[in-house]
Amino acid sequence: MSNFFENKISDRLGGINFGKSTVIYKFELIKRAKAAAKLAHPDMKLIDMGVGEPDWPADELVVKALSEEAGKPENRWYADNGIPEFQEAAARYLEKVYGLTGINPYEHILHGIGSKPVLAMLPVCFINPGDILLTTIPGYPVTATYTRYLGGEVYNLPLLESNSFLPDLSKIPCPVLNKAKLLYLNYPNNPTGAVATPEFFSAVVDFAKKENIIVIHDAPYSGLTYDGYKPLSFLSVKGAMDIGIEVHSLSKAFNMTGWRIGFVCGNSKAIQAYATVKDNTDSGQFRAIQKAGIVALNHTEITKRTIEKYSRRFDLLVNALNETGFNARKPKGSFYCYVKAPEGSENGKVFNTAGEFSEFLIRESLISTVPWDDAGKYIRFSVTFEANSENEEKAVINEMKERMLKLKLKF
Ligand SMILES: Cc1ncc(COP(=O)(O)O)c(C=O)c1O
Repeated sequence: MSNFFENKISDRLGGINFGKSTVIYKFELIKRAKAAAKLAHPDMKLIDMGVGEPDWPADELVVKALSEEAGKPENRWYADNGIPEFQEAAARYLEKVYGLTGINPYEHILHGIGSKPVLAMLPVCFINPGDILLTTIPGYPVTATYTRYLGGEVYNLPLLESNSFLPDLSKIPCPVLNKAKLLYLNYPNNPTGAVATPEFFSAVVDFAKKENIIVIHDAPYSGLTYDGYKPLSFLSVKGAMDIGIEVHSLSKAFNMTGWRIGFVCGNSKAIQAYATVKDNTDSGQFRAIQKAGIVALNHTEITKRTIEKYSRRFDLLVNALNETGFNARKPKGSFYCYVKAPEGSENGKVFNTAGEFSEFLIRESLISTVPWDDAGKYIRFSVTFEANSENEEKAVINEMKERMLKLKLKF
């Protein structure tokens, strides 16, 4: 008997074809290549430059707060749309780090169980069938995926090095603009590491007002900036609160990926819509985690220590990559270094895609990276690799360099 569920899967997931695709997705390919390489080189240690999560755990102050709060009877209830103290802490944080003033924590802010579910819910708030989401590629795909689930369409804006990895909004055709309802942006950007400028954000506000488009700014890396570039909120630009929503997360800047806590800030009507969808989707993050989150938001020195570590690692990584033939530059934000993949190697290997190179790098050298082929052939190195001291950081990067030099890559 065929499986009862065979013909019951929704069209948005592919209907009868669900689960039958033979396409192997990038992260699965990486996983398989890692497993094969470990078998082939049992004595070699994997150098994992592909991780999109901090290597440090949450700060001990935050862990202590959770352990104190977790057992308190008053924290056990459904948290619904969140506790006001968390919203207040988020508003103070936005003012302290981004200089955002005039934020009403009860009207303009609401928590989320990390930013991923927020990015999934926002299209539910705004997208009707046929509406278009403008989204940057390469990038975090959740908002686009939900837009498609809802019968909306997605128009991709490539992030090109020639435009500092900012989208060129002037190239969007009129028929697309006419149906566009949402614009998704993310700076500091995953995977390019690019940052936005106040001028770019200002131009986005003008564009959004002229074209009648809502801007979703996904900002999980906004606190992680280097070498004089100050954290920049989209909402700090004049007029942005009228048309924009910014999604913040404690995952990256406070080393709290698994804790699942973030928040959204923006126009009160938009927040009200998100609150309605959220209320019908989850029952809020555990109050003890929200309270630990408040401790994190009150202690921005946690982010400062993390920034020092990433900055130091970037200096080592960028030098090593350049000595291997890559053209790497230290980014001003995020924890990613995005470089053009080599064309091949001196012993005749040709890489038609970044995916091919990334697989080769794992199989030959046990170095894991993430490839992107959406707008040119690039690979992403992350400075969140495992190392317990500055000496270990140097040793990891040195070992990575030595292994890559042996490959005699051609650019
Ligand atoms: C650009 C971007 N947005 C959102 C997220 C999701 O983060 P969170 O842990 O807050 O759900 C990530 C995580 O990698 C990301 O890179």
